[in-house]
Amino acid sequence: METLLGLFEAARWAPSAFNAQPWRFVYARRGTPAFERFVAALVPGNQAWARGAAALVAVVSQEVLTLPGQSAPAPFPSHSFDAGAAWAQLALQAYLWGWSTHAIGGFDAKLAREALALPDHHHVEVFVAIGRQGDPAGLPDWARAREKPSDRRPLADLVREGSFAG
Ligand SMILES: Cc1cc2nc3c(=O)[nH]c(=O)nc-3n(C[C@H](O)[C@H](O)[C@H](O)COP(=O)(O)O)c2cc1C
Repeated sequence: METLLGLFEAARWAPSAFNAQPWRFVYARRGTPAFERFVAALVPGNQAWARGAAALVAVVSQEVLTLPGQSAPAPFPSHSFDAGAAWAQLALQAYLWGWSTHAIGGFDAKLAREALALPDHHHVEVFVAIGRQGDPAGLPDWARAREKPSDRRPLADLVREGSFAG
């Protein structure tokens, strides 16, 4: 629990537009009824490996909120972007402490909503599996085949000076 709280502490210091902090986290530890509900919301391919995690965390963003100085709630355009920054900070802190994290976008939105008792105007961005690196031998064949370092596009594909035409 201390570790999880430390990870949320890292996440909560992420920057956000107007410092609105539109991220929310709902956690479930393995062996609890909530964990089973979270697992059941995942698509079967993700259930196969994610059920071995020590904890699952739902990263939720608030789509509509009342900004400081405003009197009424309004759609908040950067809710997903800001929640993404928070998740990245959580993942980096976990890595520094020797834990693995794996974001999971493959879930049933309706089941996730029910599992979390999600309030209106909230959006489930991802579930995050958190745990110690396991032995790939325990994985199904298709999942074991993925267990190799992943690459990234070169900077030349990603970066332009001035405009896309540049
Ligand atoms: C928003 C998001 C959704 C993802 N959804 C899934 C998923 O449903 N299942 C899965 O196995 N991995 C999922 N991933 C993990 C990515 O596939 C993984 O981060 C990517 O392939 C790069 O691999 P690496 O993080 O090991 O470098 C997701 C990652 C993100 C950021």
